[in-house]
Amino acid sequence: MSSFGERIIDWQRDFGRHDLPWQRPERGRDPYAIWLSEIMLQQTRVAAVSPYYRRFIERFPDVASLAAAPLDDALALWAGLGYYARARNLHRAAQAIVEQHGGIFPREFDIVAQLPGIGRSTAAAICAFSYGQRHPILDGNVKRVLARYRGIAGYPRDKNIQVALWQAAENLLPERDIERYTQGLMDLGATVCTRTRPACCVCPLHKDCIARRQGRSAELPGAKPKKQLPQRQTAMIILSRGDQLLLERRPPIGIWGGLWSFPEMLLIDDADAARERCEQRFAAQLEALPALPDIAYGFTHFQLRITPLRFRVSSWIARAAEPDQQWLSAPAARLAAIPAPVARLLDLLS
Ligand code: ADE
Repeated sequence: MSSFGERIIDWQRDFGRHDLPWQRPERGRDPYAIWLSEIMLQQTRVAAVSPYYRRFIERFPDVASLAAAPLDDALALWAGLGYYARARNLHRAAQAIVEQHGGIFPREFDIVAQLPGIGRSTAAAICAFSYGQRHPILDGNVKRVLARYRGIAGYPRDKNIQVALWQAAENLLPERDIERYTQGLMDLGATVCTRTRPACCVCPLHKDCIARRQGRSAELPGAKPKKQLPQRQTAMIILSRGDQLLLERRPPIGIWGGLWSFPEMLLIDDADAARERCEQRFAAQLEALPALPDIAYGFTHFQLRITPLRFRVSSWIARAAEPDQQWLSAPAARLAAIPAPVARLLDLLS
Protein backbone atom coordinates (compact mmCIF):
# COMPACT_ATOMS: atom_id res chain seq x y z
CA MET A 1 0.00 0.00 0.00
CA SER A 2 1.35 3.46 -0.86
CA SER A 3 1.88 6.09 1.84
CA PHE A 4 -0.84 8.34 3.22
CA GLY A 5 0.61 11.30 1.32
CA GLU A 6 0.86 9.44 -2.00
CA ARG A 7 -2.72 8.30 -1.76
CA ILE A 8 -3.96 11.82 -1.03
CA ILE A 9 -1.92 13.20 -3.93
CA ASP A 10 -3.12 10.54 -6.40
CA TRP A 11 -6.70 11.00 -5.25
CA GLN A 12 -6.48 14.79 -5.65
CA ARG A 13 -5.21 14.37 -9.22
CA ASP A 14 -8.14 12.17 -10.18
CA PHE A 15 -10.99 13.36 -7.98
CA GLY A 16 -10.02 16.65 -6.31
CA ARG A 17 -11.03 20.16 -7.28
CA HIS A 18 -9.16 21.80 -10.15
CA ASP A 19 -11.40 24.56 -11.44
CA LEU A 20 -11.73 26.85 -8.45
CA PRO A 21 -11.48 30.55 -9.33
CA TRP A 22 -8.22 30.91 -7.37
CA GLN A 23 -6.66 27.92 -9.13
CA ARG A 24 -6.66 29.59 -12.56
CA PRO A 25 -3.20 29.25 -14.04
CA GLU A 26 -3.23 32.73 -15.60
CA ARG A 27 -2.91 34.23 -12.13
CA GLY A 28 0.03 31.92 -11.48
CA ARG A 29 1.07 31.56 -7.89
CA ASP A 30 -0.20 34.91 -6.72
CA PRO A 31 0.09 34.88 -2.92
CA TYR A 32 -2.38 37.77 -2.64
CA ALA A 33 -5.07 35.86 -4.54
CA ILE A 34 -4.35 32.68 -2.58
CA TRP A 35 -4.44 34.55 0.72
CA LEU A 36 -7.77 36.16 -0.17
CA SER A 37 -9.28 32.81 -1.16
CA GLU A 38 -8.05 31.07 2.00
CA ILE A 39 -9.51 33.78 4.22
CA MET A 40 -12.84 33.65 2.41
CA LEU A 41 -12.83 29.85 2.65
CA GLN A 42 -12.42 29.87 6.43
CA GLN A 43 -15.65 28.31 7.70
CA THR A 44 -17.34 28.98 4.36
CA ARG A 45 -18.04 26.60 1.50
CA VAL A 46 -16.43 26.88 -1.92
CA ALA A 47 -19.80 27.41 -3.66
CA ALA A 48 -20.64 30.35 -1.39
CA VAL A 49 -17.19 31.90 -1.74
CA SER A 50 -16.70 31.81 -5.52
CA PRO A 51 -18.85 34.81 -6.57
CA TYR A 52 -17.54 36.91 -3.66
CA TYR A 53 -14.00 36.03 -4.57
CA ARG A 54 -14.46 37.10 -8.20
CA ARG A 55 -16.00 40.45 -7.28
CA PHE A 56 -13.40 41.14 -4.61
CA ILE A 57 -10.36 40.36 -6.76
CA GLU A 58 -11.74 42.44 -9.62
CA ARG A 59 -12.21 45.48 -7.40
CA PHE A 60 -9.00 44.90 -5.39
CA PRO A 61 -6.55 43.07 -7.70
CA ASP A 62 -3.54 43.39 -5.38
CA VAL A 63 -2.38 44.21 -1.86
CA ALA A 64 -1.80 47.88 -2.66
CA SER A 65 -5.32 48.51 -3.96
CA LEU A 66 -6.86 46.84 -0.91
CA ALA A 67 -4.61 48.70 1.53
CA ALA A 68 -5.42 52.06 -0.09
CA ALA A 69 -9.20 51.55 -0.05
CA PRO A 70 -11.45 52.59 2.83
CA LEU A 71 -12.38 49.66 5.08
CA ASP A 72 -16.04 50.22 4.25
CA ASP A 73 -15.40 49.42 0.58
CA ALA A 74 -13.91 46.07 1.53
CA LEU A 75 -16.75 45.38 3.96
CA ALA A 76 -19.32 46.22 1.28
CA LEU A 77 -17.88 43.52 -0.97
CA TRP A 78 -17.91 41.11 1.96
CA ALA A 79 -21.57 41.78 2.80
CA GLY A 80 -23.44 38.48 2.95
CA LEU A 81 -20.38 36.28 3.40
CA GLY A 82 -20.44 36.55 7.21
CA TYR A 83 -17.71 36.60 9.88
CA TYR A 84 -16.84 40.20 9.08
CA ALA A 85 -13.79 40.21 11.34
CA ARG A 86 -12.19 38.37 8.42
CA ALA A 87 -12.62 41.41 6.16
CA ARG A 88 -11.37 43.81 8.82
CA ASN A 89 -8.29 41.65 9.42
CA LEU A 90 -7.69 41.32 5.69
CA HIS A 91 -7.72 45.08 5.32
CA ARG A 92 -5.44 45.58 8.34
CA ALA A 93 -3.05 42.93 7.05
CA ALA A 94 -2.92 44.57 3.61
CA GLN A 95 -1.91 47.84 5.26
CA ALA A 96 0.72 46.07 7.36
CA ILE A 97 2.13 44.43 4.22
CA VAL A 98 2.39 47.83 2.53
CA GLU A 99 3.94 49.49 5.55
CA GLN A 100 6.28 46.72 6.71
CA HIS A 101 7.00 44.66 3.61
CA GLY A 102 6.96 47.20 0.80
CA GLY A 103 3.63 45.88 -0.48
CA ILE A 104 5.09 42.43 -1.25
CA PHE A 105 3.30 39.51 0.38
CA PRO A 106 5.86 37.95 2.77
CA ARG A 107 7.41 34.54 2.04
CA GLU A 108 8.45 33.51 5.51
CA PHE A 109 6.00 31.23 7.25
CA ASP A 110 6.42 32.82 10.68
CA ILE A 111 5.81 36.29 9.29
CA VAL A 112 2.78 35.15 7.30
CA ALA A 113 1.37 33.44 10.41
CA GLN A 114 1.62 36.69 12.37
CA LEU A 115 -0.49 38.75 9.98
CA PRO A 116 -3.95 39.63 11.31
CA GLY A 117 -6.49 36.88 10.64
CA ILE A 118 -3.95 34.24 9.63
CA GLY A 119 -3.42 31.33 11.99
CA ARG A 120 -1.01 28.45 11.70
CA SER A 121 -3.17 26.39 9.33
CA THR A 122 -4.05 29.25 6.98
CA ALA A 123 -0.40 30.35 6.89
CA ALA A 124 0.56 26.77 5.97
CA ALA A 125 -2.00 26.65 3.15
CA ILE A 126 -0.91 30.04 1.77
CA CYS A 127 2.79 29.10 1.91
CA ALA A 128 2.13 25.69 0.32
CA PHE A 129 0.01 27.07 -2.55
CA SER A 130 2.13 30.18 -3.10
CA TYR A 131 5.67 28.95 -2.58
CA GLY A 132 5.48 25.13 -2.35
CA GLN A 133 6.61 25.29 1.28
CA ARG A 134 6.14 22.18 3.38
CA HIS A 135 3.98 22.91 6.45
CA PRO A 136 1.03 20.96 7.87
CA ILE A 137 -2.51 22.32 7.69
CA LEU A 138 -5.25 21.60 10.20
CA ASP A 139 -8.55 23.27 9.44
CA GLY A 140 -11.90 21.89 10.60
CA ASN A 141 -12.22 19.43 7.71
CA VAL A 142 -8.67 18.18 8.05
CA LYS A 143 -9.11 17.67 11.81
CA ARG A 144 -11.98 15.35 10.98
CA VAL A 145 -9.96 13.39 8.40
CA LEU A 146 -6.99 12.94 10.75
CA ALA A 147 -9.07 12.22 13.87
CA ARG A 148 -10.76 9.39 11.99
CA TYR A 149 -7.69 8.12 10.15
CA ARG A 150 -5.60 7.96 13.31
CA GLY A 151 -8.48 7.15 15.68
CA ILE A 152 -7.86 10.24 17.80
CA ALA A 153 -10.83 10.46 20.14
CA GLY A 154 -11.82 13.56 22.14
CA TYR A 155 -12.98 17.05 21.29
CA PRO A 156 -10.61 18.52 18.64
CA ARG A 157 -10.50 21.96 20.32
CA ASP A 158 -9.20 20.51 23.58
CA LYS A 159 -5.56 21.38 24.07
CA ASN A 160 -4.31 17.78 24.25
CA ILE A 161 -6.32 16.68 21.25
CA GLN A 162 -5.05 19.66 19.25
CA VAL A 163 -1.49 18.71 20.06
CA ALA A 164 -2.14 15.11 18.95
CA LEU A 165 -3.78 16.27 15.72
CA TRP A 166 -0.97 18.69 14.86
CA GLN A 167 1.50 15.89 15.56
CA ALA A 168 -0.38 13.59 13.18
CA ALA A 169 -0.55 16.34 10.54
CA GLU A 170 3.20 16.83 10.87
CA ASN A 171 4.05 13.11 10.73
CA LEU A 172 1.89 12.42 7.67
CA LEU A 173 3.31 15.26 5.57
CA PRO A 174 4.81 13.97 2.28
CA GLU A 175 8.23 15.06 1.04
CA ARG A 176 7.01 16.15 -2.40
CA ASP A 177 4.03 17.68 -4.14
CA ILE A 178 2.93 19.62 -1.06
CA GLU A 179 0.49 21.79 -2.99
CA ARG A 180 -1.50 18.91 -4.38
CA TYR A 181 -1.33 17.13 -1.03
CA THR A 182 -2.64 20.19 0.84
CA GLN A 183 -5.44 20.74 -1.64
CA GLY A 184 -6.21 17.00 -1.59
CA LEU A 185 -6.62 16.88 2.19
CA MET A 186 -9.01 19.82 2.05
CA ASP A 187 -10.96 18.34 -0.85
CA LEU A 188 -11.19 14.92 0.76
CA GLY A 189 -12.49 16.44 4.01
CA ALA A 190 -15.08 18.52 2.18
CA THR A 191 -16.35 15.92 -0.27
CA VAL A 192 -15.64 12.37 1.01
CA CYS A 193 -14.83 12.41 4.73
CA THR A 194 -17.92 14.45 5.51
CA ARG A 195 -19.22 15.00 9.03
CA THR A 196 -22.28 12.82 8.51
CA ARG A 197 -22.41 9.81 6.23
CA PRO A 198 -18.81 9.82 4.98
CA ALA A 199 -18.29 8.06 1.64
CA CYS A 200 -15.74 5.57 3.01
CA CYS A 201 -16.19 3.17 0.07
CA VAL A 202 -14.55 5.69 -2.31
CA CYS A 203 -11.97 7.00 0.16
CA PRO A 204 -8.29 6.39 -0.66
CA LEU A 205 -7.62 5.95 3.10
CA HIS A 206 -10.29 3.39 3.78
CA LYS A 207 -7.99 0.35 4.14
CA ASP A 208 -6.10 1.64 7.17
CA CYS A 209 -8.44 4.30 8.53
CA ILE A 210 -8.87 3.41 12.20
CA ALA A 211 -12.36 4.91 12.51
CA ARG A 212 -13.58 2.94 9.50
CA ARG A 213 -11.95 -0.30 10.62
CA GLN A 214 -13.46 0.01 14.08
CA GLY A 215 -16.84 1.30 12.87
CA ARG A 216 -16.33 4.57 14.76
CA SER A 217 -16.69 7.16 11.96
CA ALA A 218 -19.90 8.48 13.48
CA GLU A 219 -18.30 9.14 16.88
CA LEU A 220 -15.01 10.66 15.64
CA PRO A 221 -14.05 13.41 15.99
CA GLY A 222 -15.54 13.70 19.48
CA ALA A 223 -18.32 16.17 20.24
CA LYS A 224 -17.93 19.24 22.41
CA PRO A 225 -18.28 18.25 26.08
CA LYS A 226 -21.58 19.36 27.55
CA LYS A 227 -21.52 22.41 29.82
CA GLN A 228 -22.32 21.87 33.49
CA LEU A 229 -25.95 22.87 33.94
CA PRO A 230 -27.12 25.00 36.86
CA GLN A 231 -28.08 22.88 39.87
CA ARG A 232 -31.39 23.19 41.70
CA GLN A 233 -32.54 21.33 44.77
CA THR A 234 -35.89 20.33 46.13
CA ALA A 235 -37.27 17.96 48.73
CA MET A 236 -40.11 15.60 47.86
CA ILE A 237 -42.31 14.54 50.73
CA ILE A 238 -43.40 10.92 50.57
CA LEU A 239 -46.25 10.76 53.02
CA SER A 240 -47.77 7.35 53.75
CA ARG A 241 -50.96 6.40 55.53
CA GLY A 242 -51.34 2.61 55.64
CA ASP A 243 -50.38 1.59 52.12
CA GLN A 244 -51.55 4.86 50.62
CA LEU A 245 -49.27 7.66 49.44
CA LEU A 246 -50.19 11.30 49.04
CA LEU A 247 -49.90 12.80 45.57
CA GLU A 248 -50.59 16.41 44.59
CA ARG A 249 -51.46 17.76 41.21
CA ARG A 250 -48.89 20.31 40.06
CA PRO A 251 -49.94 23.73 38.75
CA PRO A 252 -50.90 23.67 35.07
CA ILE A 253 -47.85 25.63 33.93
CA GLY A 254 -44.17 25.18 34.69
CA ILE A 255 -42.27 21.93 34.88
CA TRP A 256 -44.46 18.85 34.92
CA GLY A 257 -47.55 21.10 34.55
CA GLY A 258 -50.71 19.23 35.57
CA LEU A 259 -48.91 15.99 36.49
CA TRP A 260 -49.34 14.21 39.83
CA SER A 261 -46.29 14.38 42.06
CA PHE A 262 -45.18 14.11 45.67
CA PRO A 263 -45.59 17.39 47.55
CA GLU A 264 -42.43 19.49 47.44
CA MET A 265 -40.76 21.83 49.83
CA LEU A 266 -37.47 23.67 50.17
CA LEU A 267 -34.79 21.36 51.44
CA ILE A 268 -34.08 21.78 55.17
CA ASP A 269 -30.98 20.08 56.52
CA ASP A 270 -32.32 19.63 60.04
CA ALA A 271 -34.46 16.44 60.01
CA ASP A 272 -36.59 17.44 63.01
CA ALA A 273 -37.29 20.87 61.58
CA ALA A 274 -38.31 19.29 58.29
CA ARG A 275 -40.69 16.92 60.05
CA GLU A 276 -42.25 19.75 62.07
CA ARG A 277 -42.72 21.82 58.93
CA CYS A 278 -44.55 18.88 57.33
CA GLU A 279 -46.67 18.25 60.43
CA GLN A 280 -47.96 21.82 60.19
CA ARG A 281 -48.51 21.64 56.48
CA PHE A 282 -50.47 18.39 56.57
CA ALA A 283 -52.06 18.84 60.03
CA ALA A 284 -50.78 15.44 61.14
CA GLN A 285 -48.33 13.86 63.50
CA LEU A 286 -45.57 12.28 61.50
CA GLU A 287 -42.92 9.69 62.05
CA ALA A 288 -39.79 9.75 59.89
CA LEU A 289 -39.11 6.61 57.83
CA PRO A 290 -35.74 5.38 56.52
CA ALA A 291 -34.36 7.67 53.86
CA LEU A 292 -34.17 6.98 50.13
CA PRO A 293 -31.19 8.10 48.08
CA ASP A 294 -31.25 11.46 46.31
CA ILE A 295 -32.27 11.44 42.66
CA ALA A 296 -30.63 13.57 39.96
CA TYR A 297 -32.86 14.56 37.12
CA GLY A 298 -31.66 16.43 34.02
CA PHE A 299 -33.75 19.08 32.30
CA THR A 300 -32.52 20.90 29.22
CA HIS A 301 -31.61 24.01 31.23
CA PHE A 302 -30.85 22.78 34.72
CA GLN A 303 -30.15 19.73 36.80
CA LEU A 304 -32.58 18.99 39.61
CA ARG A 305 -31.43 17.19 42.73
CA ILE A 306 -34.36 15.64 44.57
CA THR A 307 -34.05 14.66 48.22
CA PRO A 308 -36.90 12.33 49.20
CA LEU A 309 -38.20 12.70 52.77
CA ARG A 310 -40.34 9.81 54.00
CA PHE A 311 -42.91 10.12 56.78
CA ARG A 312 -45.67 7.92 58.12
CA VAL A 313 -48.84 9.53 59.43
CA SER A 314 -49.15 8.41 63.06
CA SER A 315 -52.15 10.53 63.93
CA TRP A 316 -54.19 12.71 61.77
CA ILE A 317 -56.91 15.31 61.90
CA ALA A 318 -59.36 14.26 59.25
CA ARG A 319 -59.98 17.02 56.73
CA ALA A 320 -62.02 17.21 53.56
CA ALA A 321 -59.80 16.02 50.73
CA GLU A 322 -58.41 18.91 48.72
CA PRO A 323 -59.29 18.72 45.05
CA ASP A 324 -55.69 18.54 43.88
CA GLN A 325 -54.65 15.84 46.29
CA GLN A 326 -55.24 12.10 46.28
CA TRP A 327 -54.12 9.11 48.31
CA LEU A 328 -53.09 6.19 46.14
CA SER A 329 -51.35 2.88 46.63
CA ALA A 330 -47.88 2.74 45.11
CA PRO A 331 -49.02 0.53 42.18
CA ALA A 332 -51.95 2.85 41.45
CA ALA A 333 -49.70 5.92 41.69
CA ARG A 334 -47.31 4.27 39.28
CA LEU A 335 -50.12 4.23 36.67
CA ALA A 336 -51.09 7.89 37.20
CA ALA A 337 -49.73 10.79 35.11
CA ILE A 338 -46.49 11.25 37.07
CA PRO A 339 -43.07 12.71 36.18
CA ALA A 340 -40.21 10.28 35.60
CA PRO A 341 -38.38 10.91 38.92
CA VAL A 342 -41.60 10.23 40.85
CA ALA A 343 -41.85 6.93 38.98
CA ARG A 344 -38.26 6.20 40.01
CA LEU A 345 -39.06 6.93 43.65
CA LEU A 346 -42.12 4.68 43.52
CA ASP A 347 -39.99 1.91 42.05
CA LEU A 348 -37.48 2.37 44.88
CA LEU A 349 -40.29 2.04 47.42
CA SER A 350 -41.64 -1.26 46.12
N1 ADE B 1 -10.98 25.40 2.25
C1 ADE B 1 -9.96 26.13 2.66
N2 ADE B 1 -9.05 26.25 1.67
C2 ADE B 1 -9.53 25.56 0.61
C3 ADE B 1 -9.07 25.32 -0.69
N3 ADE B 1 -7.91 25.79 -1.09
N4 ADE B 1 -9.84 24.57 -1.50
C4 ADE B 1 -11.00 24.08 -1.05
N5 ADE B 1 -11.49 24.27 0.15
C5 ADE B 1 -10.76 25.03 0.99
